[in-house]
Amino acid sequence: MKEAGSTEPIGQNLIKLISNVCFSVFVFSVLVFTVIAITYQPPDPWLESSQALTKVFTEVENATFTTDTSVLQTGEDLAVEVAVSPPSTFSITTSTIEKSEEKIVNSSSTLDCDDTLMQVNCSDPRVLIAIEKFNLKVFKSIVFLDYQTPVNGSKPKECDVAWRFRNKKEKSWRKYRDFRRFRLAIGENCTYVVAGASGWHSGSNARRPRGKISGSSSRSGRAPRVLPLVRDEEINDTIPTIGSETDFRKGRYLYYSRGGDYCKNMNHYLWSFLCGLGEAQYLNRTFVMDLSICLAATYNPSNKDEEGKDFRYYFDFEHLKEVAPIVEEGEFLRDWKKWDKTHKKKIPVRKVASYKTTPMQLRKEKSTTIWRQFDGPEPENYWYRVCEGPAAKYVQRPWHAVWKSKRLMNIVSEISGRMDWDFDAVHVVRGEKAQNKELWPQLDGDTSPGALVEKLQGIIQPWRNLYIATNEPFYNYFDKLRSHYKVHLLDDYKKLWGNTSEWYNETKLLNEGHPVEFDGYMRVAVDTEVLNRGKTRVETFYNLTKDCKDGINTC
Ligand SMILES: *[C@@H]1O[C@H](CO)[C@@H](O)[C@H](O)[C@H]1NC(C)=O
Ligand SMILES: *[C@@H]1O[C@H](CO)[C@@H](O)[C@H](O)[C@H]1NC(C)=O
Ligand SMILES: *[C@@H]1O[C@H](CO)[C@@H](O)[C@H](O)[C@H]1NC(C)=O
Ligand SMILES: *[C@@H]1O[C@H](CO)[C@@H](O)[C@H](O)[C@H]1NC(C)=O
Ligand SMILES: *[C@@H]1O[C@H](CO)[C@@H](O)[C@H](O)[C@H]1NC(C)=O
Ligand SMILES: *[C@@H]1O[C@H](CO)[C@@H](O)[C@H](O)[C@H]1NC(C)=O
Ligand SMILES: *[C@@H]1O[C@H](CO)[C@@H](O)[C@H](O)[C@H]1NC(C)=O
Ligand SMILES: *[C@@H]1O[C@H](CO)[C@@H](O)[C@H](O)[C@H]1NC(C)=O
Ligand SMILES: *[C@@H]1O[C@H](CO)[C@@H](O)[C@H](O)[C@H]1NC(C)=O
Ligand SMILES: *[C@@H]1O[C@H](CO)[C@@H](O)[C@H](O)[C@H]1NC(C)=O
Repeated sequence: MKEAGSTEPIGQNLIKLISNVCFSVFVFSVLVFTVIAITYQPPDPWLESSQALTKVFTEVENATFTTDTSVLQTGEDLAVEVAVSPPSTFSITTSTIEKSEEKIVNSSSTLDCDDTLMQVNCSDPRVLIAIEKFNLKVFKSIVFLDYQTPVNGSKPKECDVAWRFRNKKEKSWRKYRDFRRFRLAIGENCTYVVAGASGWHSGSNARRPRGKISGSSSRSGRAPRVLPLVRDEEINDTIPTIGSETDFRKGRYLYYSRGGDYCKNMNHYLWSFLCGLGEAQYLNRTFVMDLSICLAATYNPSNKDEEGKDFRYYFDFEHLKEVAPIVEEGEFLRDWKKWDKTHKKKIPVRKVASYKTTPMQLRKEKSTTIWRQFDGPEPENYWYRVCEGPAAKYVQRPWHAVWKSKRLMNIVSEISGRMDWDFDAVHVVRGEKAQNKELWPQLDGDTSPGALVEKLQGIIQPWRNLYIATNEPFYNYFDKLRSHYKVHLLDDYKKLWGNTSEWYNETKLLNEGHPVEFDGYMRVAVDTEVLNRGKTRVETFYNLTKDCKDGINTC
C-alpha cells in the first residue's frame, strides 16, 4: 500500500483529477466491483467487502477520503441470503402448481372445450394455474411469491392478475409487485393456456386499491399534515418513537455528533455511519441517527454540496430499523431535553472528545448516553477513525443493515420489468476518465460509437434489448447502436421519477411536501442495479478497453 506522499506524478494527478470531479452533471464512476471483484471466494462477504474498502480508504487516509463516486454494493447485493427477516413466503414452482392442480381436478366442472364458445371465468383456479405456468416459463430471472385471484380484464377471455416477486439477482427478501393482462384460450387436452400477455403493469384491474396514508412520516415532528398521496403500501419507513419517559431513561444510547464526514461522498458516509452503528452494537447501545444527509457536490446537478437530503431517499430505513437498534436524532434530543427540564436529576452523559478513546474503553460505561464529539480538525474528526487500529478487531461494520431504498429499487424493477427481464447491458464509462488521456489513453476511442458497435456485435445478438449504463451526458451519443439493438438509456425512463410518478409522490411525502430532485447518486444507483440485471453484461474495463479502471498501470 503506497502512502499518498510517495506516489508523485500519478498520485498528484489522481488528486487533481479527484478534486476536479465536480463538473459533470451526474458523475458516474465505476461500480464498486472493487468491493467484490477481488476474486477469491471468502467465507464472509461482509468481512471481505470491508477489507476491500479498508484498503481503498486507507490508501488515502489523510487526504480527504475521495475514492470514486460509485455506488457501493450494499447488503442486498452481497452473496449470502440474509436471514434477518423471515423469507416467510414460499415461492411458486412447478411442483406447487402441480399440487394445486391435483386438488382442483376432482372438484371443478369440466371445461367447455370448444374454444369459440368458451367463456373464461377468471376466478376459476385453472386460469391462475395456466398463468402461473406461463410466467414460470417466460420469466426465468424472477421468483414468484404469491398471486392474487385473477379478475376480469377489459375484454372477454382476458384476465388481469397481480403477484409479488423477487429478483434472483437481489439477495434481500424484499418483494416487488407486478400486475399484467393475459389472454386465455383452450389448449390441447382441454385446459386453459395463455394465448398472449401484455407488458409490465398492464393488468390495471388487478392493481390493488392502494391504502391512503397521511404524511405523518415526515421528519419535521410537527403535526402530521394530511396529504392525500398514495404510496407503496409495503414500505413503512416511519420514524420510530422512543415511547414513554421511563423507556427513554432506561435506554442506553450512543450519540455521534456531526463530524468531518458531513458532505463527503456517499462511500465515505457509509463507511463512517457503519462504524458508528458497529460501535453501538458492540456496546449494546441504541445508535442515535441523524437522518439528514449532506449530499456531496459530485452527485448534484447544481455542483454544490446539498444538505437536508433524507437517508430514506437512498437507503432502506425500514430494514435498518428492523435489524439495528436506532433512534432518530430529533426524537432523541427532544426527549432528552424534556427529561432534563422536568427532572432534578439530569440524564447521565459521558462526553468523549476524541476518537482515541476506544470502544473497548467504553465497555464498562454506565451513563445513559455516550456522546462522541468530533470537534477536531480533519482528518481527526472522521467518525470512521473510531473503528481504526485495535478497535477494528472488536467492532464490525454491520453491512447487512444497509440496503438500497426500496423506492429506488421499484424504479429498477420497473425498468427491468418493462424489458421483461430479457435484456443485455453494457456499462460505458466516459466523462472525466475519457478526457484524461494521460491516465486512460484508450478509453475515449474504445468507447466511441463506432468502436462500441464493432465490439458489441461480437458479444450481443442483433436486435436484443440493450441497456446502456453510462455517465455520458449526451443522449444521442449512442445512436449508432440503434441500427443494431433496441437501445435503452436511463433517460428513456424519466417518467418514473417525473412529477407524475409514484416515486415523486412518495419522496415528496418524506420531504414535507416539497418535490425531491432525482440526483446523481440516485441515477447511478438505478443505472447500476439495472446493469446488474442484464443477462449478458459488458463492462468498460476488461471488456471494452484495455485501460485500467484506476488509471494507467494499475491493473
Ligand atoms: C497520516 O496521519 C498520520 C497521523 O494522523 C501520520 O502519522 C501519517 O504519516 C499520515 N500519512 C500521510 C500519508 O500523510
Ligand atoms: C381425485 O380423484 C382421483 C380418482 O378419482 C383420486 O385418486 C384422487 O385422490 C382425487 N384427488 C383429490 C385431491 O381428491
Ligand atoms: C367462476 O369460478 C369460481 C370458482 O370456481 C366460481 O365460484 C364462480 O361461481 C364462477 N363464476 C361463474 C360466472 O361461472
Ligand atoms: C367477468 O366477465 C364475465 C364474462 O366474461 C361475466 O360473466 C362476469 O360477471 C364478470 N365478472 C365481473 C366481476 O365483472
Ligand atoms: C395432453 O395429454 C397427453 C396425454 O395425456 C400428454 O402427453 C400431453 O403432453 C398433454 N398436452 C399438454 C399440452 O398438456
Ligand atoms: C410501521 O412501523 C412501525 C414500527 O417501526 C409500527 O409501529 C407501525 O405500526 C407501522 N405502520 C404500519 C402502517 O404498518
Ligand atoms: C452485550 O450483550 C451481549 C449479549 O447480551 C454480551 O455478551 C456482551 O458482553 C454485552 N456487551 C457489553 C459491552 O455490555
Ligand atoms: C410537471 O412538470 C411539467 C413540466 O416540467 C409541468 O408542465 C406540469 O405542470 C407538472 N405537473 C405537475 C402535476 O406538477
Ligand atoms: C401522485 O399524486 C397526485 C396528487 O396527489 C395524484 O393525482 C397522482 O395520481 C399520484 N400519482 C401516482 C403515480 O401515484
Ligand atoms: C468481460 O471480461 C471478463 C474478464 O476478462 C470476462 O470474464 C467476461 O466474460 C467478459 N464479458 C463478456 C460479455 O465478454
